[in-house]
Amino acid sequence: MVLRIIFIFFIAFIPLLSAKQVGLLIVATGKYIKFVPGLIKSAEKHFCPGHQVTFFVFTDDLNFSHPNTFIMPHSRLGWPYDTLMRFHAYKKYKDQYKDFDYLYACDADMLFVDTVGDEIFGNRMAVIHPGFYNSRGSYETNPKSLAYVGPKEGKYYFCGGFYGGKASVVLKQLDVLIARVDQDLKNKIIAVWHDESHLNRYYINNPPDVILNPSYCYPESWNLPFPKKLLALDKPHEEMRE
Ligand code: GAL
Repeated sequence: MVLRIIFIFFIAFIPLLSAKQVGLLIVATGKYIKFVPGLIKSAEKHFCPGHQVTFFVFTDDLNFSHPNTFIMPHSRLGWPYDTLMRFHAYKKYKDQYKDFDYLYACDADMLFVDTVGDEIFGNRMAVIHPGFYNSRGSYETNPKSLAYVGPKEGKYYFCGGFYGGKASVVLKQLDVLIARVDQDLKNKIIAVWHDESHLNRYYINNPPDVILNPSYCYPESWNLPFPKKLLALDKPHEEMRE
């Protein structure tokens, strides 16, 4: 009997012992907040099952609330600063998640449609951009930008829509990325694809150990030779940027 109790105790607690604390960072200012309930609902079902997931929503909609979700007050900056300045937002609230095991950032207008699990765990995880899995990516070509990638550099072009890794690694890389964005701004330069351009420059020098295919940033209305796991939803870009 005692042995049986001990056995049941272990079976019940082993999953808890191996569960990781994972944060999902979502910037959703202005109209983007409307995507968040659906995104979080889909993540509750498909994102890191068996782990302890917490959502952090960076938004100017302070009335927004959702279970297991922390609101990080964050002003709308206007296009393209809403995307470019995301590194700054993640850094600003780092104390909230610096002790987590893993941190991932994803666009607000995404939807998990299949399990995205332990395969994303690593020091640095990046997803090959769906538009460039068999061609050269749209790197920054202005040598004056700190996101510049020379014609002979760059193997994979990664999307800015979903990436992350070990919390300590993700938070450390933010310092470099923020300094580069700020320096570019001082020089009146905005890299062609904003934060995504800087991420790609950074990953050339600091390659991700987990590289995933475009299943994890799959444009909703495209037909790609990959299973769908995380959809990038169709949206009227112009309308969203107003
Ligand atoms: C587009 C995407 C942009 C950027 C660009 C890179 O498809 O909407 O956010 O990633 O590709 O070329």
